[in-house]
Amino acid sequence: MSLDRFNQLAKKWDSKPERVEGALCFVDEIFKTIKEDTSNFNTLDYGCGSGLVSFALMEQVKTVTGMDFSTGMIDIYNQKIQSLEFNNISSLLHDINNQELDFNTYDLAVTNMTMHHIKDTNIFIKKLSSSLKPNGYLCIADLEIEDGTFHSCNDGVEHFGFNINNIEKSYKDNNLKNIIVKQLQVINKPNNNFSVFIAIGQKI
Ligand SMILES: C[S@@+](CC[C@H](N)C(=O)[O-])C[C@H]1O[C@@H](n2cnc3c(N)ncnc32)[C@H](O)[C@@H]1O
Repeated sequence: MSLDRFNQLAKKWDSKPERVEGALCFVDEIFKTIKEDTSNFNTLDYGCGSGLVSFALMEQVKTVTGMDFSTGMIDIYNQKIQSLEFNNISSLLHDINNQELDFNTYDLAVTNMTMHHIKDTNIFIKKLSSSLKPNGYLCIADLEIEDGTFHSCNDGVEHFGFNINNIEKSYKDNNLKNIIVKQLQVINKPNNNFSVFIAIGQKI
């Protein structure tokens, strides 16, 4: 989906139950896997959208920074921030294709269902890895190879999913250790079933 399309979809993003369930499933698996105290973690949610992942994990970490290139999505995200009495969340308009991320900054970087919209996934993983402090965690959830029918419109879809062996290699190439790559969930649609993987690694 293109930037325009994400801006249009933003207001209705949370209305699809599978999006909400997918984000909750991702967050649940992250905290099942990270077996240390995360209450002091500064967290990046890249391609945060309306904040389904950010708001699901905010109570278990110190801070969350949501970044996304869609003003429509960031507006919804900010409305949610304002409706909370206390929050540890902030947002930033950011395009990973054209901008850098701060180095050595986050204890946890998460990104859900965003990477298939990014052309150069090696640069994406490189930038996210570089933003981590030593021992920080990178957690990616996205589609495994699919037949191109996951989206009703493939405008802005750069990849029809990923081969998990390539993801694991990319994690290794970017100095990540303790790598786990496995199936996270299956999204059932009338036309097909789509497997979603989770990849977790820790910065050396
Ligand atoms: C499928 S949505 C996922 C949103 C959210 N992570 C979730 O789980 O609901 C993908 C998100 O990636 C964002 N995105 C796509 N390309 C981007 C880019 N080049 N830089 C930053 N954000 C991007 C879109 O605006 C959109 O919010």
